[in-house]
Amino acid sequence: MKLWQGRLDAENRAMLDFESSIKFDKRLWREDLSGSIAHAQMLGDTGVLSPEDSAKIVAGLKGIFKDLESGALPIDACAEDIHTFVEQELTRRIGDAGKKLHTARSRNDQVALDLRLWLNERIDQTKRALSELEDTLLTLAKAHTQTLMPGYTHMQRAQPQVFAQHLLAYGQMFLRDYDRLCDAQKRTCISPLGSGALAGTGYAIDRETTARALGFTAPCENALDGVSDRDFAAEFLFCASLAMTHLSRLSEELVLWSSAEFSFIELSDEYSTGSSMMPQKKNPDAAELCRGKTGRVYGDLIALLTVLKGLPLAYQKDLQEDKEAVFDAADTLLSCLSITNGMLSTMRVNADAMRAATRDGYLTATDLADDLVKKGVPFRDAYAIVGKLVKGAAASGERLEDLPLSTLRGACDRIGEDVYEVLDPEKAAKRRSSFGGPGDVDRQLSALQSALESRKEQA
Ligand code: ARG
Repeated sequence: MKLWQGRLDAENRAMLDFESSIKFDKRLWREDLSGSIAHAQMLGDTGVLSPEDSAKIVAGLKGIFKDLESGALPIDACAEDIHTFVEQELTRRIGDAGKKLHTARSRNDQVALDLRLWLNERIDQTKRALSELEDTLLTLAKAHTQTLMPGYTHMQRAQPQVFAQHLLAYGQMFLRDYDRLCDAQKRTCISPLGSGALAGTGYAIDRETTARALGFTAPCENALDGVSDRDFAAEFLFCASLAMTHLSRLSEELVLWSSAEFSFIELSDEYSTGSSMMPQKKNPDAAELCRGKTGRVYGDLIALLTVLKGLPLAYQKDLQEDKEAVFDAADTLLSCLSITNGMLSTMRVNADAMRAATRDGYLTATDLADDLVKKGVPFRDAYAIVGKLVKGAAASGERLEDLPLSTLRGACDRIGEDVYEVLDPEKAAKRRSSFGGPGDVDRQLSALQSALESRKEQA
């Protein structure tokens, strides 16, 4: 039985399957019941329904909640959607009063409300997962403030840094992801309940009260917008896409670093898999999957934007497509956050290999040029002098610090005996103590730590 049986009498099984959404919206049962309880309560309080009917409905809905929670009541897979299932079950339980629940409400405001309630809760969960990942990054960074490693541009060794600097860069990305979710959450916590099908209602309902009862900040201003708006879902999908981008970049580095060519890290066995043919293989599948799953989250964002584009006001059935995109992206993000946290907290860091990689590749060439600048040589001239020195050393397979002082001074007589200190990668990393540089990681660590603490206090 459909809720809209009124004027239609022909049925087609394939069409009913095609348009039904219970397969995926059944996971909104909690939100659907909470929304209905708030609505029924308000209908009683405002006198739209009698106090007896309202109380009966609320008790009936609470009973359904309990039975769904315990598993005593299975969700009927043949119902059109979760809203239909709940209303029919209510009427089966309490009789005619159940038929009054939908007074002053439409499934159009109901479904928008359910998704907002679900997403609000999921954003909280995602924020917690981001905080846990941040805690792991902080712990790792604290342990590696002295672990020298090359920084790269164009995937070529560029300048020396410490591993903490690299980890703290991701710390900043995930902090922004957290803040973006908080911002999106503000616009998610607006209640469309009472917007009706599109034009509100003539009953004297109280939208402010239902909004507050459901933990939202306010009712939406405009009923037509309330049932048509899916901006909150699109915003979440963008937040999820960007967070996945960050996870994917980190994953790519984990894959590279765990290769024999780098050997900077070794992922734990727990987060690795083997090969069915090559017995020696230890593959970074967890990182590869986080990288790979980023594509589907982008797909979810584009799918919803495409659904919305060109959609006239108000509700169109196209909007039913919002839920699978949101669920898929939300589930993917949450699992990738937790797996990445696991990978990072159990991996072994090979500090010796990182340090060794800073010895070749002329990572301190800029330091030598900077040293000449300090001694009065204009930067562009200093750059040319050091470039020539690097060219000569590379031709004979030597490092700059292997060259005798006389050769170095031959290139520029301002080069002094302190040149070997200048060329030392460890000292070079520490010397870069400008705000945000690798020599400034201790301050960066405490700044990130207090940023995370203040967010935990607000949560
Ligand atoms: N299953 C529908 C959805 O997810 C519920 C809203 C139905 N509204 C309607 N006018 N047919 O969008």
